[in-house]
Amino acid sequence: MNAPSLSYTSASGSSSALAGKRPVVVMKFGGTSVRSLAHWQRIASLVRRQVQEGYLPVLVLSALAGVSDELDQSITLILQGGDPKSEWQKLKSLHLQFAAELGLKPEDCQSQLSELKRLFRGLALIGEDSPALRAKIFSQGEYLLSCMGHAYLRNRGLKSLWVDACDWLKAESNSSGWGEPDHFLAARCEYSYDAALAQWCMNSGAEVLLTQGFIAQDAQGKVVLLGRGGSDTSASYLAVKLGAERLEIWTDVPGIFTANPNLIPSSRLLLQLGYDEAQELASSGAQVLHPRCIEPIRSAGIPLLIRWSDCPEVKVQTTIGTTTSSFPQVKGISAKRGVQVLSMESIGMWHQTGFLADLFAVFKKHHISVDVISTSETNVTVTLDSGVGSSAHAQQNQLSVLLEELRGFCRPKLYSGCVSISLVGRHIRSILHLLAPVMAALEDKKVFVVSQAANDLNFSFTVEEKEADRLLRSLHELLFSQVVTGEVFGPRWHRLTEDRENIEPEGVRRPWWQERRQELLALMSSAAEDHTGASVYAYHMPTLTQSVAAFKASPSVDRVFYALKANAHPQIVRWLASQGVGFDCVSLGEMRFLLQQLPDLSADSLLFTPNFAPIDEYREAYALGATVTLDNLACLQNHPEVFAGRGVMLRLDPGVGRGHHDHVRTAGSRSKFGIGLAEGDAMRRLCQQHGVEIVGLHSHLGSGISAPESWSETAMFLAQWAEDLPSVRILDIGGGFAVPEKPADPPFAVEAFEQALAEFRKVYPRYEIWAEPGRYLVAECGVLLVQVTQIKRKGRKIFVGVSAGMNALLRPALYGAYHHIVNLSRLDAPLKINADVVGPICESGDVLGHSRLLPETEEGDVLLLAGVGAYGRVMSMGYNMRPFPVEKVMT
Ligand code: LLP
Repeated sequence: MNAPSLSYTSASGSSSALAGKRPVVVMKFGGTSVRSLAHWQRIASLVRRQVQEGYLPVLVLSALAGVSDELDQSITLILQGGDPKSEWQKLKSLHLQFAAELGLKPEDCQSQLSELKRLFRGLALIGEDSPALRAKIFSQGEYLLSCMGHAYLRNRGLKSLWVDACDWLKAESNSSGWGEPDHFLAARCEYSYDAALAQWCMNSGAEVLLTQGFIAQDAQGKVVLLGRGGSDTSASYLAVKLGAERLEIWTDVPGIFTANPNLIPSSRLLLQLGYDEAQELASSGAQVLHPRCIEPIRSAGIPLLIRWSDCPEVKVQTTIGTTTSSFPQVKGISAKRGVQVLSMESIGMWHQTGFLADLFAVFKKHHISVDVISTSETNVTVTLDSGVGSSAHAQQNQLSVLLEELRGFCRPKLYSGCVSISLVGRHIRSILHLLAPVMAALEDKKVFVVSQAANDLNFSFTVEEKEADRLLRSLHELLFSQVVTGEVFGPRWHRLTEDRENIEPEGVRRPWWQERRQELLALMSSAAEDHTGASVYAYHMPTLTQSVAAFKASPSVDRVFYALKANAHPQIVRWLASQGVGFDCVSLGEMRFLLQQLPDLSADSLLFTPNFAPIDEYREAYALGATVTLDNLACLQNHPEVFAGRGVMLRLDPGVGRGHHDHVRTAGSRSKFGIGLAEGDAMRRLCQQHGVEIVGLHSHLGSGISAPESWSETAMFLAQWAEDLPSVRILDIGGGFAVPEKPADPPFAVEAFEQALAEFRKVYPRYEIWAEPGRYLVAECGVLLVQVTQIKRKGRKIFVGVSAGMNALLRPALYGAYHHIVNLSRLDAPLKINADVVGPICESGDVLGHSRLLPETEEGDVLLLAGVGAYGRVMSMGYNMRPFPVEKVMT
């Protein structure tokens, strides 16, 4: 590897020598935490924050998620005669694809890929499974990822230094004393504090150091592995060696839960655990931490924090350290699957000294580790740990030999497919009486072994695996349904995942209002002072400009008519007109307002698309020179004179509507909009009969549509309808373009929309394409500011009351619409409460946001609702005689 040369001499000393300089924080990222560009964006901003706070972050990285499994599979296939080149190609394309996602060049991982190719070839040549070669091949996954991570951080302007973990971690010689497989695949390392190494890191000039997890080097200079999941242990060793202030393990959950949260979504996060409890949970099957990672940090008293890499903004976590609480309590249930139970019957052991010693000597001889033991006068039953590094096949062989030899002492009987369920917590022996319901739950189960651990931290029983999930759920319910949130028990997993949707992902999109926070707060306070409003809509013109530019970047749309109904603020309207945008109006009122604002607006920029409007409005629209859209037969049947000799657009209903809510889907047989397909011919005849020219066809399916192909499909439908109508030259494909609702939602795929429409235009070049976006242009430029009036707690429920609700913003009450809510007065404070944000209107539906994560909030704080520039102020009302919101424009 191209490791930097480390010119330090290893020496032990006290970590306090460095105190006050740049404290080290070791941050380990597992495979799922490094798997995408978004994850790397987050890692870069986390690193930057550590640097700003004066820390020296040392990153320990696993291989990309799934790569170790791929390597394992490739080894097996190559050993079975598979083509090493094609196996290599798979891994190569996986990594090159990822490099491209991170914006890296193939060269950034070229030398590691070549090394992998060489190793695969070597394996094919040798044709036998050697632990040393296996270790070398596995290590490439970590090397590849760390090189890419290093290149990515450098590209982001961070001074990153790549270090080969083999230069830092030295395996103890013959770590386990159990032979070659364990030496190479499950090594242990020496880990005392190394002042010289720590000093070297400080002096390196790097802002961040970055190395691989899982690997180390033996005394012969060969690569060894620390066992599956061993990156946690690497990080723990390094934390001790570097005298780190803390160790952070970043993974796909924010900590250790009372049970596996994937199986039991109501599991609670454990906020604090002692080292011994964490050790017990990790060893008994909780898969968040590698069991060996606790001991090193425990010996040095370094706290371990488990952090959620998918959502670093969630500030809750499990902190593992020295806890003072010795309150007897069960804290978690874990399950170790794939356990084998070995029962050994013999009357020979009765009162016979040394029988157990002889028995276990056989286990030692065959390198088989025993987990739980239970003995009686005629039987010894043990559970067996699955092997650390060796293959399943090798383990099976080991077991057969063991059983054979045991037959000389006893009658061994092996049960496979069992699960050990452990209740873990402190002083279990003193609360056995409280576990009575647990015992009752075992009533009809086959229990192989029951064990109460000598350290008083674990009560476990081994049952058949098929019973496991049901049993775990009912035990969890029995033990944890009543616990209260406090220092030990945190939020439930399902609650956290819901909350996650409420949180802005870091480094993805930074909304405009974050930078204009002070001005927004000032706007709200002046509105409150002069009693002009209990709520303020603020519009940000640069964001409007960006949205218009994004939409106009689609060359397949010839003309854009802004749907005025979305937001009619005069400054917005005037600015849109200056950009050459026309207007789609639905009422005479809208048209008059527009002409008042824009007296010079040319008539061909006016499109009239009414629905059940009085006939006089049609008459007036023609008088104003607007293009008129007809969506019914009745107007022509009853008032042909209004239309005779003129042109019309016909609004057709293609039969299926789309949109974010039933109320906004404007096509389909239940919808009041458009001319049905069955009435199409009659409409054409009526037009012919009255000399009305059909100049264009129109369809608007609904509002808040994110499928980018929707509009080209509409165009296709209209074009087919127009096939024998030569007068049709315009196809109006409507509006309805979605905007992201939740902070993590992707933006509307304008490029895909354009691409699909461009394809359509290739087939039907003769039409002019019109579109009528409303929401897309104005939604994101608008925010609503409200002020906190009171906070109310009712049992567990928290209500944050604000100065305006559905009267100012109707969308949540009317459509269950989601608008992101933040406490603008405390934008950087940790999110701590989960509350319903409610308005002052006398309706139970007056809720602006359900179950929102907010910081501790107080009366007078300003809350901001995002993405309300469309259908916000225009739909507000005077219900309860509350004031209408004030509108402000920010340039
Ligand atoms: N064209 C026609 C004929 C329309 O009826 C509408 C919206 C649009 C264009 C613009 O649709 P947009 O691009 O804004 O989605 N109040 C609801 C939306 C109602 C939309 C009514 N028609 C809401 O807040 O979601």
